[in-house]
Formats: sequence, structure tokens, C-alpha cells
Amino acid sequence: MKRIAVLASGRGSNLEAILEAAERGGISGEIVLAISDRVDAPALEKAEKGGVEAVFVDPKKYSGREAYDQALVDQLNRARVDLVVLAGFMRLLSPLFVRSFPMQILNIHPSLLPAFPGTDGVEQALAHGVKMTGCTVHFVDEDLDSGPIVLQEAVPVIQRETVKTLHQRIHAVEHRLYPTAIDLYCREKLKVEGRRCFILE
Ligand code: GAR
Repeated sequence: MKRIAVLASGRGSNLEAILEAAERGGISGEIVLAISDRVDAPALEKAEKGGVEAVFVDPKKYSGREAYDQALVDQLNRARVDLVVLAGFMRLLSPLFVRSFPMQILNIHPSLLPAFPGTDGVEQALAHGVKMTGCTVHFVDEDLDSGPIVLQEAVPVIQRETVKTLHQRIHAVEHRLYPTAIDLYCREKLKVEGRRCFILE
């Protein structure tokens, strides 16, 4: 069984969906750790409720990004983690972090990458006027929202809708897509060749 850690900064609805999926056997791995960079992140509470060790790592306690990321890596190594899952973790990871877990970090992003990377993917899509957006699960490399794509699903934009309603519908898809991608990873069904990620039979 793969040992999984989830990193989350916010509400933690993806974390919750992942915990639920693991509980009902939809992920052949074990969620062993949740980490947040925000002390008041509801994600931490949700992890604890699910019986998962939840740790707040305070960015203010470290001199810079590398020192902070080293503290995260130390936590992940201590928990003997095989897969790092970013679920609304709103910090750009340093090369030090990414190199510590090569092709072992997944992220979910609320747009059809490579369109609209960054922190406000839903807002950007709406402002651009696209008729179709969605969400993307991808491996994390050293650039922003740029690693090999594992799964994507489209969500249509409805006339005159708001960032809130569009993000709600994207969230609903994310909650299904992310556990599926994590399970594929855990069952060793993902094969990456260059930028392309193949799903094995
Ligand atoms: C999700 O929609 C995720 O795609 C997005 O943050 C949200 C977290 O929601 N991530 C990014 O924008 C990363 N660039 P949650 O805390 O309820 O899981």
C-alpha cells in the first residue's frame, strides 16, 4: 500500500473527497499525513476528523522558501510517504522539494492546463470568456502548473455565471477526478514518457 500525504492551504474539500474515497476502498493507498501552511485551514480539522495526523508547518518560523520546504520534506520523510498530493496548497514548491519526490507529487488545478495556470484559474477563464474550462490533475515539475497531465475533464461555462458558481461545479468534478488519479498512481498504472502520461491497462 502506498503511503500518501495531502498538502492543503484552504477549505480542504478535495482532501475530504480523497479521505472518503480511501475509506470506501476507492484508493489503494493509505492517507497517513496532512500538512497545512495555515494554522486555521479547515483542511487540518477535516484530516483529524478522518483519523489522519494533521500538522501545521508555520512559514513564519523559517528564513525562506528553501528552509520551509526542507521542513516539509522532513515531515514527509518521517512519515515514509510515497506520494505527495497537493490539494489547494497555495505555495510554489522549490526545486529542492520537487527533486526530493521526483514524479511522486500530484497537483489539481481548476482549469484545462496549459490554459490559465496560477492561483486564480477559475477567474482567469471567466474573464477570458472561454465557453469550456475544467480541471487538470498533473505531476508536479519545477515550473508552475506545468508537469505531465494525468487526467482532465471539461466543465462548460454557463452564460452570466460567477466565479463562485463555476468553481462549485469544477469542485464537484475535482472530487471525482482526483481520487481516480491517485488510485491509478497507487496501482502503478501511470507511465510517464517525456511530457506524456499513459494509463496502463
Ligand atoms: C481547488 O479547486 C484546486 O483546484 C485549487 O484550489 C482549490 C482548493 O479547494 N488549486 C489551485 O488553484 C492551485 N493552483 P479545496 O481546499 O476545497 O480542496
